[in-house]
Amino acid sequence: MLFVAVIAIFNTACDGGKADKKVDSKIEEKPTTEVKEVQKEEIPESVSLVILGNDQMKFDLDELEVYEGQKVTLTLKHSGKMPKEVMGHNWVLLQSGVKVSQFANAAMSAKETDYVPADKMSEVIAYTKLIGGGEEVTIEFVAPSKGSYDYICSFPGHYSIMKGKLIVK
Ligand code: CO
Repeated sequence: MLFVAVIAIFNTACDGGKADKKVDSKIEEKPTTEVKEVQKEEIPESVSLVILGNDQMKFDLDELEVYEGQKVTLTLKHSGKMPKEVMGHNWVLLQSGVKVSQFANAAMSAKETDYVPADKMSEVIAYTKLIGGGEEVTIEFVAPSKGSYDYICSFPGHYSIMKGKLIVK
């Protein structure tokens, strides 16, 4: 049906038909593959992320995005004023499949290791030390395989609010 319709247009468009054809060919030329290639080239080898924790016991971001295999430089800043003994924050990225509540419960009694339990290191992809108001800490890690990963602050009582997802594309 479409083919018939196109022929009909050509037949009836003898006068000024050239202009019509130009418009048609421009539309067809739009390349879709080229756009994809450009996007692939634009994925940088490394990425820097900054996430804030505050005196209100909150991260400013509940979602971070990186690409698989990317070298990630993550800075955690404590934008508040309270000391780390009272309002300490860390950033702990958990392996997929780890039960966040179970990890956090174990973390509560791991004060000596900044609330990252030594016997649960296999459940952790990356983590920062614990910081207090005005402090910051930077870590580097390689983004894991594609998927969605939980991150938390493992200071006692914080994980239910201080949590988010690292999306690896
Ligand atoms: Co915290």
